[in-house]
Amino acid sequence: MKFAVIYYSVSGNTKSMAEEIAEGIRIAGEEARLFSIEENVDPAYLEQCKGILFGTPTYVATSHWKMIEWLNHTSGINLSGKLGGCFATAHYAQGGGDTAILSMIGVLLVKGMLIYSGGAAFGQPFIHHGPIALDAVGTHFEDSREMFRIFGERFANKALELF
Ligand SMILES: Cc1cc2nc3c(=O)[nH]c(=O)nc-3n(C[C@H](O)[C@H](O)[C@H](O)COP(=O)(O)O)c2cc1C
Repeated sequence: MKFAVIYYSVSGNTKSMAEEIAEGIRIAGEEARLFSIEENVDPAYLEQCKGILFGTPTYVATSHWKMIEWLNHTSGINLSGKLGGCFATAHYAQGGGDTAILSMIGVLLVKGMLIYSGGAAFGQPFIHHGPIALDAVGTHFEDSREMFRIFGERFANKALELF
């Protein structure tokens, strides 16, 4: 099954976590490709994907406007019926990573995606709206890599179950 991880990243953090999610999808035995919204999105591949994940840095406690703009105006992809998930990076726990994720989820719902975060039912690591890595809180960023891989794996397994 094909998956895509689409991200916007200024200083590389969100890209780095997108790579971990893609690795988790591959651990589940499925195909994952990474796309920066500014470089290399492949609409033909996205059409074939059953699941697409979206990542953003947190800017002023919401998702980066370029991510929303891309989703609103330039994606040109029919996302309806596909499984969607979101992730973010941020400086601080109180910095708005969750609202960044929720602002993207709102757009994905309008576009008809089925949204999946894994939820808290799996236990550790608890992922509520989507995984968030913090780059200004001790070793949180590096420590989060495993959580992002697990998120990718759970997401792929859910898509396999559904489709
Ligand atoms: C202009 C600007 C605004 C930011 N606003 C927030 C914020 O509101 N909350 C927060 O926790 N981090 C904030 N950050 C930190 C970034 O979200 C964080 O460093 C992120 O990992 C950057 O991702 P990137 O390396 O993929 O660009 C901000 C950074 C910049 C440059």
